[in-house]
Order: sequence, then C-alpha cells, then structure tokens
Amino acid sequence: MSNYFIEGGHRIGGELAVHGAKNAALPILAATLLCENSILHNCPSLSDVEAACHILEYLGCDTSRQGDTVSVRWNGAQIHHNIPDSLMREMRSSVVFLGAILSRWGEARVSFPGGCELGPRPIDIHLAALRKLGVWIEEDHGYLNCRVPDGRMQGCELILPFPSVGATENILLAACLAKGETVVRNAAREPEISDLAGFLNACGAKIEIRPDSTIVIEGVDSLARQVEYTVIPDRIAAATYLCAAAITQGELTVTHCEPAHLAAILPHFEEMGCRVITEEDKIHLQGPGQLLPVRSVRTMPYPGFPTDAQSPLMAVSTIAQGTSIFIENIFENRYKHVSELMRMGASIKVEGRVAIVEGVPALHSATLQCTDLRGGAAISIAALAAQGVSEITDIKHIQRGYENFDKNLSRLGAKITRSR
Ligand code: UD1
Repeated sequence: MSNYFIEGGHRIGGELAVHGAKNAALPILAATLLCENSILHNCPSLSDVEAACHILEYLGCDTSRQGDTVSVRWNGAQIHHNIPDSLMREMRSSVVFLGAILSRWGEARVSFPGGCELGPRPIDIHLAALRKLGVWIEEDHGYLNCRVPDGRMQGCELILPFPSVGATENILLAACLAKGETVVRNAAREPEISDLAGFLNACGAKIEIRPDSTIVIEGVDSLARQVEYTVIPDRIAAATYLCAAAITQGELTVTHCEPAHLAAILPHFEEMGCRVITEEDKIHLQGPGQLLPVRSVRTMPYPGFPTDAQSPLMAVSTIAQGTSIFIENIFENRYKHVSELMRMGASIKVEGRVAIVEGVPALHSATLQCTDLRGGAAISIAALAAQGVSEITDIKHIQRGYENFDKNLSRLGAKITRSR
C-alpha cells in the first residue's frame, strides 16, 4: 500500500480546475438505473465512483469512462435486484442505490450499512420514508429485504426529523416514479440534492425544490431512455485546496467551481486574514503572513458550514495566532484527525462536540495515519506547513474523494511524493 511523503514549508500557488463533485456523482450514478443510456460529464475519477460503477455493472449496466465522461448503458443481460455485501462495503453510501432499485424493479435486497469512520451510520430516516411510500421492509441477519407490494410506490407527505442528505436522495429516487405526489418537508438542501433533482428532471421527472426546505415530487410513469448531464463542481475539494494555500501563505485560484456553494466557508478564510476574491466560476485566495483564529465554526446542514470542510479548516487553524473553536453538529465521531494533528505539535482539546484549537507557532513533521477521507486531507494540509518530511499512511481514504491529490499539490508547488 502506498504512502505520501510531504516536505512542509513550500507555498501552494497557481491555478487549479476543481473536479466534479463526488457527492453529486454518486447519487446521480444510482439514478442512471432509471434511464437506459446516460452520459455524465465532469464525473470525477475516484475510487468511490468506481465502486458505484461496479454496483451498476452487477445490476446489469455497461459502464465506460473517457476522460471525465462516464457512460452508463443498461444491457439487460443480468438481472439482479440486490447488492452483495462486498460491493456495499466498498462504499458506505451505496445505500442510495436502494431507492433507485426499488423504483426500477419494485424489490431489493441490500446489506445493512454498519458503522463507518464517522461513527454509526443509521438509515432509520431512509427506511421510515420508504415504508411510508409503501415499501415493505424486513431486516434479515444484516440484510434488508424490500418489496413494493403492487410494484409501484405511492406518493405521500414526508416530514424528515433531520434533513439527511442520503435519505432525501433516496426519497427523490423512489418518489420520482411513484403514483401521485410526494411532498418532503425539512428536506436536505445541499447543492448535491439540487444536482440529483436536475439529473432526474433532465430525464423527465417532475421535482420542484422550494426555498423553504420542501421538495415536491410529482410521480411520472416513466423516464427518458437517453440523457446527457454535467455534474456540479466539488465544493469540498475546492475548499480543501484553498486551505492548502491558506496554511502555506500561498496564492491560489481555483477555477471551474461554483463560489456560491462555498458561501458559508469563504468568510472564515477572510476571518483568518486571507484575501478572497470570487468571480463567476473562480475563487482566488491569498494566504496571510500570519493566520488569525476562527471564532467559532459550527457545522450545519446546507446552507450552513459543511461538516466535510471542518477538518481541513481545523488543520489551518492549528498555526493561527489565537484560539479557534469548532462545533461539530452533524456526525458524532468526526474528530479522529485531532490526534494526528496533535502528533505534529498542534494543541487541540475536544469536549464532546466542541474542539478548541490553541494555535501554535509551528507544526513539526510526523508519521500520520489517514483516519477518514476529509481527516486524511486535513493532515496532508497540516503536513504542507510542518517543518520536515511527514509520512502519511492509509491514503486510500484520500483517493475516495480527491482526484490526483498528490499530482495536483505537486503541480501547485508542494513537495509530495508517493511510495509504490
Ligand atoms: C452525506 C455526504 C457526506 C456529508 C453528509 C453531511 C455523500 C455520499 N455523503 O452523507 O460527505 O458529510 O452528507 O453533509 O453524499 N442520520 C440518521 N438517520 C438516517 C440518516 C442520517 O440518524 O437515516 C444522521 C447521521 O448519522 C448523521 C446525520 O444524520 O449524524 C447526517 O447524515 P446524512 O445527512 O444522511 O449524511 P450522508 O447522506 O450519510
């Protein structure tokens, strides 16, 4: 298994085109099951996207990639309505295939997603919504056997106890072909939800996202046989590279991005003393000579500060002059990167959902282990600013969500190598 070696102290600068959003591409790939022939542009080349393609192939699709374009074509050769445990385990978020399989075939068998790096990953909100849409669900030794008794779900009103991203996606996939209207209240509003709705509407679905967190889905009888769609840019990847520039006193322009999707993140860079200029599809950031702390970063559902950007921003705050406070409200177990940052000399105290970071003058190199996808990005960012050469292990986590992470950083001025 390969590791990264990062020599700290080199500025990150220049221009980088951000890749397509992993968290938009995955549910859209699940949605391609509802269309015979889909062409997706700006689809990032990541191990999680590959895992989604493996599931599609198992379910009877041919998939192919040319550059950033992925084609998915139904071949009808093999008909499975289940996802084997091995494929489910390749990617925790594969539960989003459940709504699509049920929409297409009216029955599904998938393994129950267990815990993951971020703690327990319950799917009670997904299951309650599917049950209300008329799905019969039985839990059987770690598997979920699901069936739609008369083959087609029935639209209904759903009030989510929490605006879960995955549950909202499963509902869109399930309800777009249901009988009648489904109204989802307290739905997630992440840009990736709008992108999934955009894809499904391009296929002929009737989904309306209202500004008050309500989504209205008018079920249709069938979707188009052919569609071509472009995935939105990855807002978390954009934020991550901006963090790399901020911590190294660099000057970076991220292009091909959607600045509005980073509206809750960019003010924190300014608070830390960075100069930030946005244009239509570009963000320019200049890191300061001395970083300032962030008063309080509270992770929230969109349009609040995204939990996925918490650990990269925390890495930057470790060498700010003063005390920064982070409050993690989305996942229970999202401070695993803290112990790795502390190995580099960071001073961080975690109490429940709160992390208090006392900025230190400098970090030093260490051997570090990626704990999860964004945690892995965070420790890499810290290593870019640390004195000496850090070794980063378990980089498979980073490859789940960042295309050419080491090559991009290297092109932007980092001294990063990857062992074979
Ligand atoms: C998605 C993103 C992930 C991001 C997260 C929050 C993908 C592939 N992943 O994950 O990167 O960090 O949104 O923005 O898009 N919950 C329940 N019951 C449920 C569902 C969720 O209790 O049935 C809880 C979860 O445990 C978690 C919180 O709700 O504490 C948020 O989860 P959710 O919004 O569903 O996130 P994911 O879709 O898993």
